[in-house]
Amino acid sequence: SHTAKKNGEGALEVGGVDVRDLVAEHGSPAYVLDEDDFRARARAFKHAFKDFDVYYAGKAFLCTTVVRWVMEEGLNLDICSGGELAVALRAGADPKRLGFHGNNKSVSELARALDAGVGRIIVDSQYEISRLIELAGERDVVAPVMIRVTAGVEAHTHEYIATAHEDQKFGFSITSGAAFEAVARVNEAPELELLGLHSHIGSQIFDSSGFEVAAKRVIALHARVSEELGVDMPDLDLGGGFGIAYTTQDDPSDPAQLATEMGKIVEHECRAFGVEVPKVSIEPGRAIVGPAMCTVYSVGTVKEVELDAGASRTYVSVDGGMSDNIRTALYDADYSCTLANRYSDTVPTLARVVGKHCESGDIVVKDEFLPSDVQPGDLVAVPGTGAYCRSMASNYNHVPRPPVIAVKDGHMRVVVRRETEDDLLLLDMGAAE
Ligand code: LLP
Repeated sequence: SHTAKKNGEGALEVGGVDVRDLVAEHGSPAYVLDEDDFRARARAFKHAFKDFDVYYAGKAFLCTTVVRWVMEEGLNLDICSGGELAVALRAGADPKRLGFHGNNKSVSELARALDAGVGRIIVDSQYEISRLIELAGERDVVAPVMIRVTAGVEAHTHEYIATAHEDQKFGFSITSGAAFEAVARVNEAPELELLGLHSHIGSQIFDSSGFEVAAKRVIALHARVSEELGVDMPDLDLGGGFGIAYTTQDDPSDPAQLATEMGKIVEHECRAFGVEVPKVSIEPGRAIVGPAMCTVYSVGTVKEVELDAGASRTYVSVDGGMSDNIRTALYDADYSCTLANRYSDTVPTLARVVGKHCESGDIVVKDEFLPSDVQPGDLVAVPGTGAYCRSMASNYNHVPRPPVIAVKDGHMRVVVRRETEDDLLLLDMGAAE
């Protein structure tokens, strides 16, 4: 995050808070959330995409404090479950500024969204359209609907997080005609208001040509709807997925450049088809919260392991692992790390930072050079853990999930407290016997 720096003693400071003080007060591991950095990134998107609406994708990381920051910075919020809806409403979010996603929202989730007055529901199947017609009819309301479409592009990212090729679960296919059929049905249903098309091609994407191809195909459908159904849909959502730098090898997305490129494509395509330019929205999650958080761990053990050809690797075990960051194990993601509590001038050694869980795939950072005197009691910080780390955290091995501590101007504030073993035992109905 942009306020992170090493101080005179070689310790990491974020938001003016020395992580040694943070760990002394709140323990480790801990997620450290840089409020100024989060707000600056949110603002940068809002500013760059000034003619667009920007929806922060809460799946990357959500808590009531973050909902309030998002609303204060003038962004809207993308939610994808009843749980996220509950967090948003508890934080006092304006329901009209919520967009509700998901390929299998339950009937009760849809009902809650309608009762709350959510601004847009992005539908993903014919079954869902039927359910919405029924639920809206029962309530005598009109449900505002966007249609999730599959643009049929190959986004260059990990298979598990790519969503615009044909053979995956999301959206109505444009190619097969399913998308047009869905649009026509929503358009005819008096219980539904057709807002527009929605496309999200995947996540952690750097190559903007995927967005370009998708935008062209989606706008072609938008234009076909205008021509054949005589409806100019007011909105168009091009999704999120903008990549961030996890290591020095990656080149982070630049909101200003993205905005210019996407704005141009939309203008150009709409003009080519002779349709009015709809209100475009985007949904960045990772690009806003990812770099705004780091995880601070304590080192517990250090072990030298001989590799082939006389080489060796230093295994540095920390007090968390795949339960607070599953991304390395799940997506083979690359992270970096740094010694966070002191200065060291010993020669760097090739280290692998591993967790405390009972499996060998429990790796946090695959390869990093750490000072060779790294030892138990040291702190190690992993930057860029804001997106999909706390939000995908688990209780594997009955390890309680770490807290999220917001830092700003030298102050720290617990925004999500540390889970305790008692919290876990509360769910265990045999525990009180
Ligand atoms: N909009 C929709 C409809 C989405 O499905 C997603 C992410 C986003 C926006 C936000 O994408 P972002 O800007 O954050 O890339 N757990 C995976 C990422 C899954 C993304 C799911 N959808 C990971 O850790 O990489």
